[in-house]
Amino acid sequence: MAFPQLAEANRRPFAVRDDNNPWENEMSTGEEKPTGSIIIGCDHAAYGLKEKIKEVLAAVGFTVEDVGAFGEASVDYPDFGKKVASGVSRGDFDRGILICGTGIGMSMVANKYKNVRAALCAEPFSASMSRRHNDANILVLGSRVTGEALALNIVDTWLHTPFEGGRHQVRLDKFSHLGKCAEDK
Ligand code: RB5
Repeated sequence: MAFPQLAEANRRPFAVRDDNNPWENEMSTGEEKPTGSIIIGCDHAAYGLKEKIKEVLAAVGFTVEDVGAFGEASVDYPDFGKKVASGVSRGDFDRGILICGTGIGMSMVANKYKNVRAALCAEPFSASMSRRHNDANILVLGSRVTGEALALNIVDTWLHTPFEGGRHQVRLDKFSHLGKCAEDK
């Protein structure tokens, strides 16, 4: 189910229908309630963008677990990056979205976690490729880098683009065991 707010602007040239991929099926039919679970977190710099993304995801039927931040008072991004990354690492959530000012700090935190493949994306092409080739399970955005409309387009693309597997899975297998912490609070 594409975001109605982006009806015209939203094009996903790389999306391939995959009957085994619930994310893709949602987009293809545009009618069922989305099924995948999403956990989202941010710091103070990205509070407004996080709220907007949550609002749009809820409007198209996603259930989103919000771990904060819950305002614009200064906080430390690792506290929220750890919550989202550990939730995805444990398998409690299918996907995560993390946002800070640049997206850099959140990426550093998230990619320390086992089973996490976090991708910092500033445009939809990278978002699409991060799914197709890297099976990214956490999308990272920089609220001071990427404007709201573009960020929503990136989220839409990322949620609805399937992993291609095959040679890309072989490549993921070559590094996925390296130097990750197990889980964290
Ligand atoms: C907060 O000022 C800023 O450092 C943070 O949002 C993020 O950009 C860190 O990487």
